[in-house]
Amino acid sequence: MLQKTALFDSLQGKLTGDHVSRSRRSLGDLSNVFLNEEERLRMNPDQHVYEVEMHDSCGEVEGGLFFGVSHVHPGKVGDEYFMTKGHFHQKRNRAEYYWGISGEGLLLLMDEARVCRVEKVFPGSLHFIAGHIAHRLVNTGSSSLVVGACWPSDAGHDYESIQKDGFSIRVMEKNGEPVFVKQ
Ligand code: 6PG
Ligand code: NI
Repeated sequence: MLQKTALFDSLQGKLTGDHVSRSRRSLGDLSNVFLNEEERLRMNPDQHVYEVEMHDSCGEVEGGLFFGVSHVHPGKVGDEYFMTKGHFHQKRNRAEYYWGISGEGLLLLMDEARVCRVEKVFPGSLHFIAGHIAHRLVNTGSSSLVVGACWPSDAGHDYESIQKDGFSIRVMEKNGEPVFVKQ
């Protein structure tokens, strides 16, 4: 029997159809994420920072997979580029793939000893995120950074450790260019 399907527009990164849900983070949801908290509080709390579209056809089961697309909008809080909250997976050994669809940005990768690596994200770039590695997307461009992702559906998210200690580097704009600032 023919089943309903979801649609993935691989050029625009648009995910629609069956089993697709959307979530959004606005500036008001992102307390203590950016360095300049005073500036964030001065900005419009309803300003959208990123959206995630997710295809969930199996639920959070061992052996399952989720497929998603993140859209990080262009913008800054003070000199710091818009970015995702970032997380370790709750089940630490769960890995993930990211791939760049449109826009330009950076993927921050941090191990549990807080050692950070950075990969450039651009249309066609492919990123393997091993288990035990925290990951955060930063939009350094002037259009939305759109990134595909596929990960084990039982991975879960641990936001608390990032909320508490942050990443060990931040990406700020200086003279129109991204620079890395150690924390
Ligand atoms: C995941 C993926 C990805 C991520 C989004 C938003 O494990 O679910 O890494 O879908 O959730 O890019 O980033 P945050 O979850 O850090 O807000
Ligand atoms: Ni993840």
